[in-house]
Amino acid sequence: MISINKPQTDENEVQAVLDVMRSGPLTNALGMGPKVLEFEKTFAAFAGAKYAVAVNTGTAALHSAVMAMGVKRDDEVILPSFTFVATAEAVVLSGGRPVFVDIDPKTYNLSPKAVEKAITKKTKAILPVDLYGFSADMKSLREIANKHNLGLVEDAAQAHGTTYAGKPAGSFADAACWSLYASKNMTTGEGGVITTNNAKIDETLRMIRTHGEKTKYTSEMLGNNYRMLELQAAIGNVQMTKLPSFIAKRRRNAEQLTKMLQENTQLTLPYETPDCQHSWYLYTARLINSTQTQRNKLLDNLKAKNIGAEAYYINPVNTMPFYQNNYQTQTLPETEKAAKQVFSLPIHPGVTEDEIKFIGKTTLELL
Ligand SMILES: Cc1ncc(COP(=O)(O)O)c(C=O)c1O
Repeated sequence: MISINKPQTDENEVQAVLDVMRSGPLTNALGMGPKVLEFEKTFAAFAGAKYAVAVNTGTAALHSAVMAMGVKRDDEVILPSFTFVATAEAVVLSGGRPVFVDIDPKTYNLSPKAVEKAITKKTKAILPVDLYGFSADMKSLREIANKHNLGLVEDAAQAHGTTYAGKPAGSFADAACWSLYASKNMTTGEGGVITTNNAKIDETLRMIRTHGEKTKYTSEMLGNNYRMLELQAAIGNVQMTKLPSFIAKRRRNAEQLTKMLQENTQLTLPYETPDCQHSWYLYTARLINSTQTQRNKLLDNLKAKNIGAEAYYINPVNTMPFYQNNYQTQTLPETEKAAKQVFSLPIHPGVTEDEIKFIGKTTLELL
């Protein structure tokens, strides 16, 4: 099976872990061991940000960033429902109420118009997602956030390599949250990192990461144990050196697939512009005018040919039992439609040019 994603590691990561195992430290009580500090420096440079704070998951990154916006009990945070559930968990864990709004069907990302309509006196922050690795409309969202004095946290979990207005993902947000989970464009197994250009937010995030402390046993605010292990950071430091080539390979595969699939009129292919570039975390196409059953049949047929195609976010978060039972939610027609029609094809760096040809040819034949 050509898998939809596969962590790309070799002996260099193995050696880096062994070195930490042999010489330590395994972690640092304030989350600032030498490997973590090195990782934060290189990741900040990659993201074009002043500060990076490494944590132990992307979910921890999101929770910390939403907390750092000052979200408290019953504050509202506006976010898409067409995302991985962690985006919403960050709001609920902070005591806030998620307010789900609809997407722009062209990009699958938060619709700024829908965001503006959803703002109330209780709104505290906006939480867009760069879905599949294509940036949300951050300039419009920045303007809305400024106009209404709201925090702007970007879920950049899938956006390593994404550009928006020619800049790396995260550049227009108060804080951007990246995941380093095993499926992502780079990985530390589990892991996360938050980037920001704001010194105060950086300081707050560092405290949240380790029990609200600046010094041991003196909690100044509510925090958690979100520290990244030195072992994770050691893997991350090796992965950072490979990230540009990972992204280039994903792009090469995506472009080759688009060349093949663009002749078919039943598909809408991923959207990109010269200054808003994909990270190509997922190559997601849409089966136009299809029912969920037709899309699922295509997925089954692709799998039968050993192509690990997947449909992500088939249950938009607002339709999940926990969110339906606890939060009032409007219907989101574009979200619901997209969830039934999209499917993703493998383009990770381990997929060869021949495999891409096979994926393209097979998809066309099945259609
Ligand atoms: C959009 C999105 N947000 C948040 C997360 C959570 O990241 P993690 O799995 O590292 O906690 C992920 C990835 O899993 C994601 O894809």
